Amino acid sequence: EDLLSGPKPLAGLKAVVTSGPTHEPIDPVRYIANRSSGKQGHAIAAALARLGAEVTLVSGPVTIADPAGVQVLHVERAEEMRDAVIANLPADIAVMVAAVADWRVASGSDQKIKKQPGEAPPPLMLTENPDILKTVGHHAKRPRLVVGFAAETQNVEENGRAKLERKGADLIVANDVSPQTGVMGGDRNRVQLITRDGVEAWPDLSKEDVAERLALWIAMQMAGAPA
Ligand code: CTP
Ligand code: CA
Repeated sequence: EDLLSGPKPLAGLKAVVTSGPTHEPIDPVRYIANRSSGKQGHAIAAALARLGAEVTLVSGPVTIADPAGVQVLHVERAEEMRDAVIANLPADIAVMVAAVADWRVASGSDQKIKKQPGEAPPPLMLTENPDILKTVGHHAKRPRLVVGFAAETQNVEENGRAKLERKGADLIVANDVSPQTGVMGGDRNRVQLITRDGVEAWPDLSKEDVAERLALWIAMQMAGAPA
């Protein structure tokens, strides 16, 4: 309540947020992508802005509207998302929510690939995409607070911890995206906050409420941490 009265707790701070999927082209009409509505990432960008942060949202292709009070950069591919994020450093806070495609097609075609009657389907050669969170977490201009997400279907805590270390993040927001949870594409989320201090499990909440609480959690951290 204290944080909501008086001056806005994130005033004067810059945040960069990624959201949505990336689309990795196979040819001009086809792509590889992860499932992601962008709902959680967009809600977090809006919540940080409501607390006074100057927010840049780097969004992959989504069907939802740009959130209010936020500068939105629209990108398609992981490499474009990485470039847009890096171009927006220095920042005080990074929250990487996007469901980045782990792989892209090694050599995409400029022309539509046609079916060849009687021939086998074309093989797809994949190459690994840059890890945007890991790049930010180890960057010379690393933000003071680096937050990642971990979409898991099993061993949520253990996998989240490993990601925290590997990517140089301060917080991993881990969620169970097994089909039966309805998190993917839905309006609700149940997350665990994984830091070096331990794990905090939040109840089942709307994605809006997760965003609100996470923005407040971030504001607490920024208030406590040395400038
Ligand atoms: N992430 C990223 N760039 C990538 C892959 C992931 O920035 N190329 C970020 C996501 O935005 C998220 C975090 O890393 O904040 C974890 O993403 P996730 O897909 O769960 O982890 P991966 O490292 O890709 O591992 P895996 O998919 O094998 O579980
Ligand atoms: Ca991944």
